[in-house]
Amino acid sequence: MAQRKSLNVNGKAVQISIDDPEMPLLYVLRDNLGLRGPRFGCGLAQCGACTVHVDGQAVRSCSKPLSELAAQQKIVTLEGLGTPQKPHPLQRAFIEEQAVQCGYCINGMIMESAAFLTTNKKPTEAQVKEALANNLCRCGTHARIVKAIMRAAQA
Ligand code: FES
Ligand code: FES
Repeated sequence: MAQRKSLNVNGKAVQISIDDPEMPLLYVLRDNLGLRGPRFGCGLAQCGACTVHVDGQAVRSCSKPLSELAAQQKIVTLEGLGTPQKPHPLQRAFIEEQAVQCGYCINGMIMESAAFLTTNKKPTEAQVKEALANNLCRCGTHARIVKAIMRAAQA
């Protein structure tokens, strides 16, 4: 039987109807709320394409069941990080460095590094690489991605 679930997404309280409380957060974000920033990659918490923030922490939404989320927890997606008029420094830096090929991994790269930069505001390049070691990019855009993150950190 369908149940109501309350979430806080990008600063707004939302209510959704779900059949399965174990459904991954990613499906709700994309299918119920139309947020296409987070991507489905592996579905196994291994690639990072689906990363969002939950209370400021980077979380792999493909593997986060709704049952583990409470209404007051703050979920932020790429769409909530900045706007086209006022992009987040990382979003601006990725554009300035043209740090994208196919773009599939970029949601995860930005969301993971945004959470990382709140814990380390002036990282070294080695620390950035370590922070993103588990975010996969099949296009090999890593060098530009790291450059973009360093640019955002220095902004
Ligand atoms: S789709 Fe979630 S980590 Fe790959
Ligand atoms: S830019 Fe294509 S997967 Fe990273």
